[in-house]
Amino acid sequence: MTGAPWSSGTTRLPDGALAVAGVDLRALAAQHGTPAYVLDEADFRARARAYRSAFTAAFTAIGTDVDVYYAGKAFLSVAVARWAHEEGLRVDTATGGELAIALRAGVPGADIGLHGNNKSDAEITRALEAGVGRLIVDSLGEVERIAEAVRARRGEPAPVMVRVTTGVHAGGHEYISTAHEDQKFGLSLVPGPDGAPSPAVAALRAVLARPELRLLGLHSHIGSQILDPSGFEVAARKVLRLRAELAAETGYLVPEVDLGGGYGIAYLPGDVPLDPDRIAKDMAAAVDAACAELGTALPRVSVEPGRAIVGPTTCTLYTVGTVKPVTLDDGRVRTYVSVDGGMSDNLRPALYGAQYHAELASRTSSAPLALCRVVGKHCESGDIVVHEVQLPADVAPGDLLAVPATGAYGRSMASNYNQVPRPPVVAVTDGATRVLVRRETEDDLLALDQG
Ligand code: LLP
Repeated sequence: MTGAPWSSGTTRLPDGALAVAGVDLRALAAQHGTPAYVLDEADFRARARAYRSAFTAAFTAIGTDVDVYYAGKAFLSVAVARWAHEEGLRVDTATGGELAIALRAGVPGADIGLHGNNKSDAEITRALEAGVGRLIVDSLGEVERIAEAVRARRGEPAPVMVRVTTGVHAGGHEYISTAHEDQKFGLSLVPGPDGAPSPAVAALRAVLARPELRLLGLHSHIGSQILDPSGFEVAARKVLRLRAELAAETGYLVPEVDLGGGYGIAYLPGDVPLDPDRIAKDMAAAVDAACAELGTALPRVSVEPGRAIVGPTTCTLYTVGTVKPVTLDDGRVRTYVSVDGGMSDNLRPALYGAQYHAELASRTSSAPLALCRVVGKHCESGDIVVHEVQLPADVAPGDLLAVPATGAYGRSMASNYNQVPRPPVVAVTDGATRVLVRRETEDDLLALDQG
């Protein structure tokens, strides 16, 4: 009855209410209010472990090492960064804010990576001060800026990776594909006009020319919510070819290659997520075959899953406020079920047309199912939480609704649209709740307003 897309700790109690990790969601709503993100800690830890052990087994089997970085952009809080690190993952950050949270969690700088296509000088300096394990260079101009920052601090050479765009177009939506040519990220592998080197090669040469920088490796991230894994292998082969070409030119074989994140998850009942064992084995086989073909030693490999680790761990709990049946042109009836949140706590349906599922959380019902659209409380009609879902026809104000698989890019992309305070993230573990990020209040909003 539960199972994907719900977290592994989600069950129906004998009286029909939903529970997560032994916590009755009615009690959670009474204690913490709604809307609330409900995060199943054991499920998070299990997914983190599953990725780590799948990749470790697959890459150890081909004879090299692998690091799994948790991509904090999916959702980051101090506790979550700590859990990821305790489960043997490193932490990938993309801004100074994410870096600050990872550091506050006690993650050692050496286990943190910093991305960003437009890092500020302050972010670069902070990363250097923290001794991050790697800065991922996203543009030619950044090479000089990092080198200058190292020089200004008279610090050790900074470990850098160069992010390349492999031309692979993958992912759930145009806005989340990141390795085709016509977008902002990374350095292209396509040579310039009149025999000029590709932007990627130009950046690699620039890094090698600066004693303040240590070229650790190459980076490729092709997109997000990817359900067809073939793109990862194509991208890996392109990156490994560049690595071999650079070694032929300079005599330096970069020791590491990062193949990014992007593993797709289940959002709807019946969706089949990527399986960590399968991806890890396929990627290891692709890396092994490509290196054998190119005649190069294997690199140390890393990957950066975010969504696949935190996405399925969380459901959002809402209270139904109003119910409005509408007769459509074709005679069908669609019931608009308005909840006490919306696009401010889950922007993905409005931004990407993302599909979600919803179920009654406070009870079950034997009423017939009705075509429903779950909508929020914001001032626009695109404020949709679940585009289409069958809910019991007696769904009524006061019912609790739960929307699963909201752990990734839910709270992390939440806003204060319409001055709505953002919901808390409540972890549930062994029958107990713990607030990881508290609910915002109107006082928080007013505190920012200088009058
Ligand atoms: N590494 C890099 C360099 C990335 O840019 C990303 C995601 C990841 C790793 C993690 O990807 P994941 O495993 O979570 O798919 N807001 C969008 C997703 C944007 C992803 C941005 N980069 C969404 O809600 O679908």
